[in-house]
Amino acid sequence: MKALILVGGFGTQLRPLTLSMPKPLVDFANKPMILHQIEALKAIGVTEVILAINYQPQVMLRFLEEFESRLGIKITCSQENEPLGTAGPLALAKEKLLQEAEKPFFVLNSDITCEYPLKEMLDFHNAHGGEASIMVTKVAEPSKYGVVVLDDNSGRVKKFVEKPTVFVDNKINAGIYLLNTSVLNRIPLSPSSLEQQVFPAIAKEGRLYAMIYDGFWMDVGQPKDYLAGLRLYLDDLRRKSSLDLAIGHNIIGNVLIDESAKIGEGCLIGPDVVIGPNCVIESGVRLSSCTLMKGVQVKRSAHVSGSIIGWHSTVGESAQVSSMAVLGEDVHVGETVFLNGVVVLPHKEIRSHFVKPEIVM
Ligand code: GDD
Ligand code: MG
Repeated sequence: MKALILVGGFGTQLRPLTLSMPKPLVDFANKPMILHQIEALKAIGVTEVILAINYQPQVMLRFLEEFESRLGIKITCSQENEPLGTAGPLALAKEKLLQEAEKPFFVLNSDITCEYPLKEMLDFHNAHGGEASIMVTKVAEPSKYGVVVLDDNSGRVKKFVEKPTVFVDNKINAGIYLLNTSVLNRIPLSPSSLEQQVFPAIAKEGRLYAMIYDGFWMDVGQPKDYLAGLRLYLDDLRRKSSLDLAIGHNIIGNVLIDESAKIGEGCLIGPDVVIGPNCVIESGVRLSSCTLMKGVQVKRSAHVSGSIIGWHSTVGESAQVSSMAVLGEDVHVGETVFLNGVVVLPHKEIRSHFVKPEIVM
């Protein structure tokens, strides 16, 4: 079986992290986001993953080489010269996808985290006999997603409305699809949208089915949602393999610490914290609901809460970083500096306080 992951898009909402790294390679729980997906695909027998990219191809290509051999799965790139939207990339990769014309293929949005119930989806798809399956999940605020109205008994989709302006339903497109190769005949090789064009058309013919998924799910393409998704992911990890989580008198709730990280005396860490490889946390540091990417240093008695700290950044002694601050790669926050909700672009040095959310260029 094959799968295509929609990798393109500029990841603007996850800036400044995506100024250093394409969105799917940004670490999530100490692993590039897309790796969680490739592993799940491999686990159910997918043999080739096609990454549909239109942005930073050289970085993605380097990533491919490393993980192809490590995971034992074929990873190829399908590169657009112009952004083709969410459907056009399928037309571009048509030849590859048709190599197994009799088998359906998976399509994934690259910015979602969940338990990837792909086996269940395969069974669901084989049972209903339609042309396409999508996974749906229930959310409190459906307006920023694709909303799906379905027949609860059969799962047949009656209507698909992308980002509705009025309330339609609370079941939304979770960004995981299983499509028969006949769907490729519906897509032109030009910018086009699965959500705006292809799915509404298949639904109209009564050939689109939706599988309701009840586990945790989040689109982690924005900082606030990234941290919310991380909390859900860690909760799930606690249920499934709690041995991966840190324990100790200085740990509160779910905390994931890479084994190469160094933690000083008298720190208080958690809940919902991820500490990446080679991080150095000095004594008396307080961390909660945050993620520290690879190589971050947090100096003595500093506090980080509700924030994302980019690769190789430093938080100075007794500094405070809080309220959805996002520091890009290689940002250095001075001693005792107070940062509230700011977004800091890569390679900056911050010596003054920022009390209101703003972008530090
Ligand atoms: N190759 C390629 N080319 N990929 C693209 C392009 C493009 O031109 N444009 C977007 N993508 C990729 C993104 O990288 C992402 O993985 C996926 O397509 C969806 O794009 P987003 O920009 O993240 O869309 P969204 O979050 O607003 O909405 C989508 O996801 C929701 C679930 O998170 C839609 O599919 C909604 O219906 C859905 O509910
Ligand atoms: Mg998204």
